[in-house]
Amino acid sequence: MAHTSERVVILGGTSGIGLATADLLLDRGYEVVIAGRNQERLTQAFKTLDTKKADRPVTGKPVDATDGEQLAAFFAEVGGFDHLVVTVTRNGGVTSLADLEAAEVRKHSEGKLLAHLLSVQAALGTLRADGSVTLVGAVSSQLSSPGLVVLGAINSAVESASRTLAAELAPRRVNAVSPGVIETPWWDWIPEEARADALTGATSDTAVGRPGRPEEVAHAIAFLVENAYTTGVVLPVDGGARLNVQR
Ligand SMILES: NC(=O)c1ccc[n+]([C@@H]2O[C@H](COP(=O)([O-])OP(=O)(O)OC[C@H]3O[C@@H](n4cnc5c(N)ncnc54)[C@H](OP(=O)(O)O)[C@@H]3O)[C@@H](O)[C@H]2O)c1
Repeated sequence: MAHTSERVVILGGTSGIGLATADLLLDRGYEVVIAGRNQERLTQAFKTLDTKKADRPVTGKPVDATDGEQLAAFFAEVGGFDHLVVTVTRNGGVTSLADLEAAEVRKHSEGKLLAHLLSVQAALGTLRADGSVTLVGAVSSQLSSPGLVVLGAINSAVESASRTLAAELAPRRVNAVSPGVIETPWWDWIPEEARADALTGATSDTAVGRPGRPEEVAHAIAFLVENAYTTGVVLPVDGGARLNVQR
């Protein structure tokens, strides 16, 4: 049911958690602008979201969030808005230290940490003075599992940045969600025949005992967008993955 006239920009809104967030915020009456790099994904996302027949059509265009000039042109075209959600990421990145390659570390850092920071920086000229920013970290920031050295370090940095920015950009609010394993195209780097088992295996020892759905993370993002007294928070949405449940 529509209850707002506010505008939200979702960088990464063409897939997974970002697309689910666009879907939910449309239902809540927001004017939604989405972006990703790939025009085909963007067109497909428009088609998916247009079926909702929202009062105001979803708009957006391709932008690479690792490129400051593209971001500046994008936000200049978008104009004033109320809330920024950043869900961009590079897929994969699970590696042991022994197999780690410098070029891959750079690509993953740029694809997530740099993209998040440049996106927020570029948005500041047109984001409402008391609007909100929501970033996305990951449970890997808190886990000590082998193979998570790169992902964990990058997601820790994003979550830490969200708290620092909450202080630096106030009265704008800055928060992050920290998802566990969520069924989205992020996992497409795993061969299709092995993917379902991999996600089930990765979540069977969590309290909830299953992978999460993008809608469940979108619900938490919507809370952070809407709650005007919440800032500097990193909100886990992980089915209890951090609880170390003994069975
Ligand atoms: N899925 C999980 O299990 C999980 C768990 C914990 C945390 N997360 C985090 O949740 C966030 C969303 O992930 P997801 O699962 O929804 O991933 P996803 O389905 O792969 O979606 C990623 C989105 O980001 C866009 N994107 C990627 N790089 C970009 C760039 N440089 N510039 C602009 N857009 C870019 C993609 O579109 P294009 O490819 O067209 O650019 C796509 O729209 C990420 O930060 C991820 O690390 C995911």
